[in-house]
Amino acid sequence: MYLVGGRDVAEGAIERASRAGFSALVVTIDTPVAGMRERDPRSGMKELLSGGFFAKFPFLLQFVGHPRWVAGFLLDGGVPPLPNIVIPGKGPMPLLDVTAALARAVVTWDDLKWIRESWRGPIVVKGVVTAEDARRSVGEGADAIVVSNHGGRQLDCVSPSLQTLPEIVSAVGNQTEVLFDGGIRRGSDIVKAICLGARAVLLGRGYAYGLGARAAWRDASPGHFEG
Ligand SMILES: Cc1cc2nc3c(=O)[nH]c(=O)nc-3n(C[C@H](O)[C@H](O)[C@H](O)COP(=O)(O)O)c2cc1C
Repeated sequence: MYLVGGRDVAEGAIERASRAGFSALVVTIDTPVAGMRERDPRSGMKELLSGGFFAKFPFLLQFVGHPRWVAGFLLDGGVPPLPNIVIPGKGPMPLLDVTAALARAVVTWDDLKWIRESWRGPIVVKGVVTAEDARRSVGEGADAIVVSNHGGRQLDCVSPSLQTLPEIVSAVGNQTEVLFDGGIRRGSDIVKAICLGARAVLLGRGYAYGLGARAAWRDASPGHFEG
């Protein structure tokens, strides 16, 4: 959960998650500022989502060069709204608004208190990279923490999450579950994280790379594809 859209939106999401039978709530704390994702300006993310025709123009060749992708994208409904961020009285937040909304969605320790009151199940605090924040998370009632620098997608100067894992495990490992993510690509990466004290690991890009590789393989060898 992000606090995008404010408390009312978050409370609605908590309520839906609870009704849908989810058992734990993950609260991400590492996005007080948006990461500098240089690929987004390069590929025209902002212009394509919100710009006028002339702003979009430099990127239109990309569409011409990928007609199958464009057809699939349009058949799939085009730019999706965010169905899990429901603004009261308005409905799902448009994707276009999310960057600005995220920039306003700073989570504070005080927020954890009311989240604790709204959610009865376990709370996982995700995005911890220092022993100090790990102790504070436990003090504020986190049942687990995820040692994570958001896969390096947020701030590019923070420590690699694997490097901070041992100090966090020695600080709070006997009081809470310490989970880990960032760069898990194969089994040996999982073994390393577990050996450094993680209880379990999470995956961000790994599954997406798998899906992409499968699609690329299918396109490259349609006759051999049976899956
Ligand atoms: C496309 C994409 C979207 C993500 N969205 C979120 C998100 O909404 N909330 C969040 O806490 N982390 C998000 N993350 C970060 C992942 O949860 C995770 O921390 C990170 O990707 C782990 O690194 P890995 O990709 O190397 O496994 C996202 C990551 C990717 C690649």
